[in-house]
Amino acid sequence: MEKLKIIGGKRLEGRVAVSGAKNAALPILFATLLSQAKSRIENIPALADIQTTLKVLSALGLRANFNEDNHFIEVDGEPLHSIEAPYDLVRTMRASVLVLGPLLARRGEAKVSLPGGCAIGARPVDFHLSALEALGAHFIIESGYIHGTAPKGLKGNRMKLPFPSVGATENALMAATLAEGTSIIENAAREPEIIDLAKALRSMGAEIKGEGQSEIIIAGGSSLKGMNHSVAPDRVEAATFLCSGLITEGSVETLGISPDFLTSALDELQLMGAKIERFSNSIRASFQDPLSPISLETAPFPGFPTDMQAQFMALATQARGQSVIRESIFENRFMHVPELCRLGAKIKIQGNVARVDGPSPLTGATVMATDLRASASLIIAGLAAKGETNVRRIYHLDRGYEQIEKKLQNLGASITREFDK
Ligand code: EPZ
Repeated sequence: MEKLKIIGGKRLEGRVAVSGAKNAALPILFATLLSQAKSRIENIPALADIQTTLKVLSALGLRANFNEDNHFIEVDGEPLHSIEAPYDLVRTMRASVLVLGPLLARRGEAKVSLPGGCAIGARPVDFHLSALEALGAHFIIESGYIHGTAPKGLKGNRMKLPFPSVGATENALMAATLAEGTSIIENAAREPEIIDLAKALRSMGAEIKGEGQSEIIIAGGSSLKGMNHSVAPDRVEAATFLCSGLITEGSVETLGISPDFLTSALDELQLMGAKIERFSNSIRASFQDPLSPISLETAPFPGFPTDMQAQFMALATQARGQSVIRESIFENRFMHVPELCRLGAKIKIQGNVARVDGPSPLTGATVMATDLRASASLIIAGLAAKGETNVRRIYHLDRGYEQIEKKLQNLGASITREFDK
């Protein structure tokens, strides 16, 4: 096991390049299942979840080669010989459920282990199944597996999502590209990762309109050519670095990302008193005045992203006054709170609302990462804490952040990865 050791109090200053977005790259890689041709995807981040995705694709028979140094993957979709995503892979990464739509579309059958819950919530997939059923799929759930069939192939239809679920939108979108006739996804998720998936599918010849809005229209085709796409930048990684700069009273510029990807997050940072400079393909956040508290609620895009909640909570510990943070997407996404309190934060939870009193002087301690974004929150707090902070179980972090300690070192942080005996 490894840990990150941080000596806090160093002011972060400088520029950092943002990697490709994990939450765009995963569905885009699964979309290569839709074609038997060869695909090439650029700007892929070197993450544990990408490795898991490649294992799932190879378990299905696809040949995928990841050139990590140059961040591109080439996939040969021809040798698809299995329709089963095995339990041992799906349990390590719930996003594997995104093979459902492509396999049903291409093969008319899919067998995927029920993803099960994770630290932040039960994470059901009922919206995915009902959307695909509208296209003619039938599902049997037994022995922990979802077994889907579409014996007559998928037929275009209207799919109304009860909630703008990102994953359900992605499964529906991918399946509809090979369904016979036109499909409409209503109440679709509007996240930038949906827009990026649509662009990748369009490079395969898919006919899609409306991505990024609540209604997406897809004209299904009989086959798709290989994908040729470069993955959009990671807005959650960018927000993590902007918060890291601000909590150290520094100034950080994230390169390779448009401010349009972080509209609500940048508005909140501005309300906290940060100086925000928006450029065409980069964003700079600079500390200028003592931070003011925030009041925010997580919501589907373009609302405040739940994936940035933990990071903003760490920053809020240094704001002058009480911040109120309401987590309305996941039922258990406050696991970073007890760990932040070990560093000296003053946070009270009532239901899905956390009240953060600041500024609270933080002092280094050993803390435990519990999930991907909670890990980032502990690092941000450790950067401001007096003395040494050790963040353990950082395998959570490696799922979604590429070389985070190197990027933070380049910004002036004292942070090293060490063996955790
Ligand atoms: C995606 O998860 C992201 N993961 C999550 O990022 C992100 O937090 C989430 O979207 C919300 O933005 C990937 O893209 C790989 P949802 P997803 O379906 O698709 C409920 C990270 O840290 N729901 O939009 O699973 C669900 O329980 C991860 O990078 C159902 O009830 O999220 C949740 O409460 C964490 N039934 C809400 O909807 C369903 O069938 C939103 O989930 C599907 C979802």
